[in-house]
Amino acid sequence: MRDLKEIIANKLCDMDLGIEKSAIYKLIEIPPRDDMGDFSFPCFSLAKTLRKNPALIAKEIKEKLEKEEKTYFEKVENLNAYLNFYIDRKFIQNEVLNEILEKKEDYGRSNMGKGKTIVLDFSSVNIAKPFHIGHIRSTVIGDAIRNIFNFLGYKTVASNYIGDYGTQFGTMIAAYKLWGDDDKLNENPIKELLNLYVRYNNEAALNEEMMDVARDEFKKLEEGEDESVRLWSWFKEISFKEFDRVYKLLDIDFDNYDGESYHSEFIPAVIKELEEKNLLVESDGAKIIDLGEDDLPPAIIIKSNGSSAYITRDIATAINRKKVYDFYENLYVVATQQNLHFRQLWKILELMGYDFYKDCKHIPFGMVSLKDKTLSTRKGQVVFLEDVLNKAINKTKEIMKNRDTDIEDIDKTSRIVGIGAVKFQELYNNRIKDYVFDWDELLNFEGETGPYVQYTYARAKAVLRKAGVEEMTSMDFSLLNSDEEFILIKSLRSFEDTIVKARDRYEPSLISRKIMEISQNFNKFYNSSKIMVDDENLKNQRLALALATSVVIKVGLSLLGIKTVEKM
Ligand code: ARG
Repeated sequence: MRDLKEIIANKLCDMDLGIEKSAIYKLIEIPPRDDMGDFSFPCFSLAKTLRKNPALIAKEIKEKLEKEEKTYFEKVENLNAYLNFYIDRKFIQNEVLNEILEKKEDYGRSNMGKGKTIVLDFSSVNIAKPFHIGHIRSTVIGDAIRNIFNFLGYKTVASNYIGDYGTQFGTMIAAYKLWGDDDKLNENPIKELLNLYVRYNNEAALNEEMMDVARDEFKKLEEGEDESVRLWSWFKEISFKEFDRVYKLLDIDFDNYDGESYHSEFIPAVIKELEEKNLLVESDGAKIIDLGEDDLPPAIIIKSNGSSAYITRDIATAINRKKVYDFYENLYVVATQQNLHFRQLWKILELMGYDFYKDCKHIPFGMVSLKDKTLSTRKGQVVFLEDVLNKAINKTKEIMKNRDTDIEDIDKTSRIVGIGAVKFQELYNNRIKDYVFDWDELLNFEGETGPYVQYTYARAKAVLRKAGVEEMTSMDFSLLNSDEEFILIKSLRSFEDTIVKARDRYEPSLISRKIMEISQNFNKFYNSSKIMVDDENLKNQRLALALATSVVIKVGLSLLGIKTVEKM
């Protein structure tokens, strides 16, 4: 689609205002209210060079523009120091709607990322610790970011960097040796492993020796001792069964599950390299890297008992990823709490001389807390994601049963709407914000929720079904004259831009907000204008608008990893 800002910038640039086109472009804004036009240009910064007051400048430019031939813009007005541009409705309507009718679900797709590989480290759950409500954030946000990059033509590598190594495994093994019960473990693996883990940690808090035992157990594992490796593989196997179930429910998959243990194989080479580059220093029997100059605390690379650390494995991982994928960017979708960890990691990579540290980015997100106290975390008790997802599905089913609809498959519909509601809520706020998980809000069909958007989609589809329309070809949209129609069309137009912005900021909430806006605009249009009118042309144009809306909502939701239903 034509970049109207570019067109405005060109017009203004031709007027010798003493300011560069790129600077003009940057100054162009979207006015806060629709009645103020579609774009505006503030003249303040021209005052100095032109030696006139900004309001006068605005007036003069307006007068000059008025003499020009009118393409793309219906009118230009000056309001104080601002020039307000009103886009030509007919032009926009035809441009946008015909493009959507033609491209269908490829509307907004591009190949701007061609040839670039993005590694995305997300979800990254820990073995033998439950997949809990906190992990859903990384999983859902990471998946959405991946979809956005794919849609823009990048190649993505979704890496689930499984936490399957480290002292916690020493703890698990030590606890198992003391109290392990195979029957219980086979029956309820993750909950039972968690019980062992929590019990051990509670007792070890009063008994320092137990912590040493756990550390030694991990060391044995790193050294490849048979029994340790056997237990570790078994814990992994039973945990994976549970993860698979949850990922299936969420309908999210990964290109690899190369986690901490996988990458630990590269650690010896990393240590050697760090030694050669004189970066390791001894400190109390441990080997550390001093990062002092940047007021970063030193990073412990080898603990005093000879074991590797979390950061050691991350160094090995980043270097290996660069070798294997030659990534353009390497993104870590991980909670804000690990900010320091990643700053240390970038610094170490820089000190090692790896310029690609600049392409490694932490994509942090805030915390989830629960409003429903019955679900909250008590000591050693965690909220299991699978339970949350199933509850969402069941609650949706209850709501569906009480609705007057002709849904054919209520189970399938509840699944899509229930899971969609959880995902949408996760993705509706700026990711960095902490947020409260609230059941009532989540499933409110009238609120700013997933079900509301999905319902809007189903509503548009119902109209099209009734009219017997599936596809439509291009037409002249000369009869869509209402403000509701124009505002809806404008929001459909800005969808493309929103995808690119969402990529720039790694911010899926821009997309969820945009499709919320589109849905609200559609419902205003739907409530104010009859679609099935007698005038055949007007009817078709309105149907095409409903079709275009349904396409954009569907694309938007799919970028968020959410499916649509035809009826609900
Ligand atoms: N497993 C870690 C956790 O749950 C997150 C791992 C993030 N990725 C990484 N490469 N460090 O806290």
